Amino acid sequence: MTNPVLIAPSLLSADFSRLDEDIRRVEEAGADLLHLDIMDGHFVPNLSYGIPVVEAVRRVTDLKLDTHLMIDNPLEFLEPFRDAGADSLTLHLEACPQPAPLIEEIHRLGMECGLAVNPDTPVAGLLPFVADLDLVLIMSVQPGFGGQEFRPEVLPKLVALSTWMAEHDHHTALEIDGGVTADNASHCRGAGARLLVAGSSVFGAPDAAAAIAALRGDE
Ligand code: DX5
Ligand code: ZN
Repeated sequence: MTNPVLIAPSLLSADFSRLDEDIRRVEEAGADLLHLDIMDGHFVPNLSYGIPVVEAVRRVTDLKLDTHLMIDNPLEFLEPFRDAGADSLTLHLEACPQPAPLIEEIHRLGMECGLAVNPDTPVAGLLPFVADLDLVLIMSVQPGFGGQEFRPEVLPKLVALSTWMAEHDHHTALEIDGGVTADNASHCRGAGARLLVAGSSVFGAPDAAAAIAALRGDE
C-alpha cells in the first residue's frame, strides 16, 4: 500500500490579523499539519516571525507544527522552539553543513528532525544523514518568500532521492515546499513527495477544502 500524501499549509500566507480563525479554517478543510516558516533576514533575505507566534499557534491548534528553520546558527533556538510547541524542526544543509550534532540534539529534545536543500543544492549532501532523519525537504523555490513560481527542475531530485531511499530501505518522509499548486501537485506526488507544503494555494483559495483535496489528488 502506498503512503497517504499529507498536506501542510504554510502559515506565511495566512491572515495574521485573524490567525486563530484562519488556522481553524484550514484545519477544518483537512490540513494534516501546519508548516511554520521561520526566517532570520540573514540566511534568507526576509524576516517572518519567531517563538511568540509559534507559542500562540500552539495554543489554538492540535495540528502537528512542521517548523522550517531558514536561519543561520539554529543551535541556540532548538530548545526554545521545542518549548514553544514545535513538533518537528527542519534545518537547512546550506546553513548547517555539519548537521549531525544538531539532528541528535533535536531528537534528544523529543522532536522530529528534517533537513532541507535549496533548489540549486544537489541531494548528494543529504544522503549521509537520511537514515537519521524523519523528513527531507526539497525546496522548489529559493527560500524567503511565499507565492513564488514552482521550479519543475527540482522534480528529478525528488525522483533520485525516493529511488535511492527505496534501494536502501529508508522510510524518511519526502517533503516539497514552494509554489506547490493543484497544477503541479500530481508531478510532486508522482516524483515521490509525501508531504506537500502549500501557502498561497491553500490560504489564498476561496475554498480551502477543495484546494487541499486537489493537492492530495482526491477524485
Ligand atoms: C518559502 C517557504 C514556503 C512558502 C510556501 O521560503 O519555505 O514554505 O511559504 O508558500 P507558497 O506555497 O505560496 O510558495
Ligand atoms: Zn517552508
